[in-house]
Amino acid sequence: FEKIFALNTEVEQTNTLRLRKGVIIGAGQVGLACAYSLLIQNCFDELVLQDINTKKVEGEVMDLLHGMSFIAPTELAAGTVADVGKDADIVIITAGAAQKPGETRLDLLGRNVAIYQNLLEDVVKHCPHAILLIVTNPVDIMTYVALKISGFPSSKVIGTGTVLDTSRFRSLLARRLNIDARSVQAYIIGEHGDSEVPVWSTANVAGRKLLSQDWENLDSEEREEFTAIFSQVKNAAYEIIHRKGYTSYAIGLAVTDIVEAIIRSQERILTVSGLVNGLYDIKDVCLGLPRVINEKGFYKTVNLDLSPREEKQLRLSANLLQDVFAQLKF
Ligand code: 2OP
Repeated sequence: FEKIFALNTEVEQTNTLRLRKGVIIGAGQVGLACAYSLLIQNCFDELVLQDINTKKVEGEVMDLLHGMSFIAPTELAAGTVADVGKDADIVIITAGAAQKPGETRLDLLGRNVAIYQNLLEDVVKHCPHAILLIVTNPVDIMTYVALKISGFPSSKVIGTGTVLDTSRFRSLLARRLNIDARSVQAYIIGEHGDSEVPVWSTANVAGRKLLSQDWENLDSEEREEFTAIFSQVKNAAYEIIHRKGYTSYAIGLAVTDIVEAIIRSQERILTVSGLVNGLYDIKDVCLGLPRVINEKGFYKTVNLDLSPREEKQLRLSANLLQDVFAQLKF
């Protein structure tokens, strides 16, 4: 093969271009959906898949590599943060037990904290400048755990938060209004879980509020319809898990959206989970709020104009997460 090319003798040995490297820890259904979506969107120059089942992750990488001629190239490998994944820019962590039918996200806590205590030591040692993107559920608690264990600045420890819930909310409202989901401005904030909060007071289409008046003054028919839509959002994962056993594609696309905002420094607003330090009198907890995302991670949060009812619900969500974290002998 060497005879095929005439080498250029004046090639510098140092990298002139900063190559973008990502590592996905956990090659289960969610990790693979993330990998597939990130490859198709060509987010990274180098992408490493890490899993305790080395044989499986090698097989997954082999399978994905065989599709490379159909998409823009990414240097894809099976390995770990301690070898080929060293000095990654973003470490995406999906490792951990996933919900079984009937389980809540909070039921996973004990198992997944133990897994994080084990894997984060190597991440901190070998990828000291990485942004951590936490996917493992209960994602808000796991983001806070990763923040505490890693000692990284809070701007660089991000959870997928309610990015997926906000997408579900916008998709269902868009279907009801028969418009593109990208034209709906509506947020879900708080816990990525049963205490999440729909921000109805500012939900709008082209600036036109969806609610004809405050929630408290809505007529019962309107309130029932909005309640039904939010219930579908909040229970979406349970319904999907009941049918297919897990969720994967949408969270993979949500992770890709967050990664794109980071690597292209888009200054985009996404309801990722991150440390709250005083907004709405909430602190020492990670939960979903609209943050501005760029190459540094999240460096500012939109101070939403919440109704008193929404602010109360957000505080309840924060308190629930703080109570759960307090139970961890951490
Ligand atoms: C989801 O909401 C299970 O947290 C995952 O799809």
